Parts: sequence; C-alpha cells; structure tokens
Amino acid sequence: MKVLIIGNGGREHALAWKCAQDQSVKTVYVAPGNAGTANELKVQNLEIDASDFEAIAKFCSEQPIDLVIVGPEQPLVDGLSDYLNHNGVPTFGPSARAARLEASKSFSKDFFKKYDIPSADYEVFDSHSMAMHYIQSQTFPLVIKADGLAAGKGVIICPEIKHAKATIDDIFLKKRFGDAGKKVVIESFLEGEEASFIAVVSNTQIIPLATSQDHKAAYDNDLGPNTGGMGAYSPAPIINDQLHQQIMDQVMLPTVNGLIKENSPYLGFLYAGLMINENDINVLEFNCRFGDPETQPILMRMQSSLVELCNAAIKNNLRDQEVIWHKEHACGVVIAADGYPSNYKTGQKINFNTNETSQMKIFHAGTKKVGNDVVTSGGRVLCATALGDDLKSAKQNAYMLVDDINFEGMHFRKDIGNKGIL
Ligand code: AMP
Ligand code: GLY
Repeated sequence: MKVLIIGNGGREHALAWKCAQDQSVKTVYVAPGNAGTANELKVQNLEIDASDFEAIAKFCSEQPIDLVIVGPEQPLVDGLSDYLNHNGVPTFGPSARAARLEASKSFSKDFFKKYDIPSADYEVFDSHSMAMHYIQSQTFPLVIKADGLAAGKGVIICPEIKHAKATIDDIFLKKRFGDAGKKVVIESFLEGEEASFIAVVSNTQIIPLATSQDHKAAYDNDLGPNTGGMGAYSPAPIINDQLHQQIMDQVMLPTVNGLIKENSPYLGFLYAGLMINENDINVLEFNCRFGDPETQPILMRMQSSLVELCNAAIKNNLRDQEVIWHKEHACGVVIAADGYPSNYKTGQKINFNTNETSQMKIFHAGTKKVGNDVVTSGGRVLCATALGDDLKSAKQNAYMLVDDINFEGMHFRKDIGNKGIL
C-alpha cells in the first residue's frame, strides 16, 4: 500500500511515522512534510503544497495512492477531501460542509444550540458597535472568539471590560484576524479542567481514541497567551468511565447525528475540546482533524493499525474495528521558537544529542533541512514525546529528551503533565 499524508506539522510527522510501521505499507508520502518526515524510514517528502489540490490529485492517480490522510484543517475547510473523493482517491478527512464545525465558530455554536449539545451561552456579532454595546451588560471574565480559522490564536479571554473593548477594536478596526474576524462569538467564561476527546467517525459510527489533555497557554501554570498547544499527555485521568459515556451520549452522538441531518455526514477524526467541571461537561470547540500536539502522545500509545482503522472508516465499516492501546502513559512536550506565539525567528540550527528508542521519540513540526543541518522553520518546532509506566515516568522521559535538544531561543513549558499526576 501507498499512503499520502497532507501537512507539515508535528501531527503529520506522527501520522507518517505510525503509518510507516504498518507491514502492509510500502511507502508513506508526505506533502510537503518537514525535516523529521524526511529522515523517517519508508517515508518520503513531496514538494507539493497542501493547497495545490490539482498536483495532489495528479500524484495520487499516477502512483496510485491507496489512502490519503489529511492532517490540517485549512485544506479540509477548503474542500480537499471533496476534491480527492471526486477524483476517486480514497481520502480520510471530512468534506468542507462537515468541516464547518471548525471553520466557523458561529456555525458551530448555532449547531450546538440546535442539537442540544452543552456549550457556553453566546451571542454572535458582525459589527463593532453592536459588540461594544453587548459587552456593557456582561459579567467578566468574558471570552471573545474570531469566527474563522486563526491557528488556535483567535480566542481571547478578557478579564475586564477594558480588555474586551481593546479586543473588539483589534478585531473589527485593526482587522487583527483579517476575514476570520468579520464576525465574533462572545461567550461566557467556563471554569474547570480541559480535555480533548478525539474519535474516528464514519457517519453514525464512532470509535473513540485514547483520551488526552493539551496545554494551550504559552507558559507554565497556564499563564500567557493561547497557542496551538504546548504539550499533551494521554490518557487524561479526568475522563473516567462515567464521563466517557456522558461525552458519547451528550456530545459525540448528537453531533454525528446532527451532521447527518444537516446533510454533512462526517468521515475523519472528530475532536471535541471539552471543559469539565465535576460532572458537568461543555464543548469549547470542535476540530475537524486530529489535535496537535495530542496526536503525538496518542499515536505513541496506539498498538493496532491506524491505516486499517482509516480504511475501515472510509468503507463505513468501523463496527468490526478494535483499537488496541499500549497500557503505558505518554507525554509530549512542545519546544517552541523564541517569541512564539507572537513573532518568532526562523533559521536557527537545531542540535540534537538524543537517543530515540521505541519509548522516546522526537516529532518534528517547524523544521526543515538545509544541507546537512536541521533548522527551525516555524513557531512550534519539535515535540519530545515519551512513554512511561505512569504519567510521572512518561513526563520524566519526555523531559530527558528535551534536555538533549538545543537551539537559540528555544522555550518550552516545564509543567506538561502535572495536572494528570495525582
Ligand atoms: P477554542 O479554540 O474555542 O478551543 O479556544 C481555545 C482555548 O480558549 C480553549 O482551549 C480554552 O482554554 C479557552 N476557552 C475557549 N472558550 C472558553 C470559555 N468559554 N471559557 C473558558 N475558556 C475558554
Ligand atoms: N491542540 C489543539 C488543537 O489541535 O487544536
């Protein structure tokens, strides 16, 4: 079999690494990939951009490719799955219609309301003056979200009204998020602990993957601006059996059934970002893809075949699938560039002095090869990921990997996993 992974982040490195382990897979191509996928056994990078649908379809039919997994949201939202399926290429990833769940926060909030899926109270605004007027009567903190895609940075938590006013100015007047900020969702602030619930979905069939928890804030103790994710661990002990069932009943099932009613049946990874407060669960957001960095620890724990699972989903045949997990825990620590999530430098040479094992793996994200060197090319650069008998030892192993990596200005959180260590 030949597999093609679309994307160039840490998630895509982990997807390619996992697919390459499959005996039935001869080659995994990654378009365009990074320095990590370039060095992976059985994996080959392609100089094709994720936005070049025509070139992707052409490559797929020439090979031919047996399975495409689309990693990031943008090509999904832009209709890559629809395009490839139309060209007869077996593709795992939702249609653009189904991906609206992530593409538009106002769409997803209206969807939650319509299908009775628990989520924070909200209003949607497309004008500066109406948004300004609304916040006068609200209690704080208050959460302001750009409607469209903003690489995980479009959510601003405003502790006081003056922050909310500045944020509304930023979005509507200074156009901080461009067209993604033409509308905003303003919603009430929820307290609790966050967890990521990610499943493989094919129409009404749902196979939940191992639970995980991300760390969205840039700095230790959840301080600083929101990022795409600074580290993750799996499993998330906060999701006990009872909560697991509750999430299936109150969130996942009504969502996949609602999507069918909206004429957008789902195929792909479906990611619910949840806020959990005792037995109360609320959906913060849906993503139409695997999480980054959740993919890295989750896939390190996956023992059974991902390729088989995706193929079964494409054939709408998940009923016979069983996903087997290593019982070890996994922890992934993101190493970011100086300045991330704001402006950051690229082109810094990375020195690796590490011994990867089957228990310890460095997944690349913003990296590229320049001659024999690996240099930084993005904000989130690497994700040092490790297994351990419990979360504490997985964490220790992951930080041991981090210790052996060096580049100018690198920064990472020191507390990844702490919330799950009881
Ligand atoms: P989202 O992209 O909607 O998941 O938001 C990004 C992050 O902002 C979440 O992971 C939470 O940490 C935070 N967040 C979003 N919405 C809320 C809310 N209503 N209350 C508290 N925190 C929130
Ligand atoms: N880790 C959060 C995300 O993938 O959106």
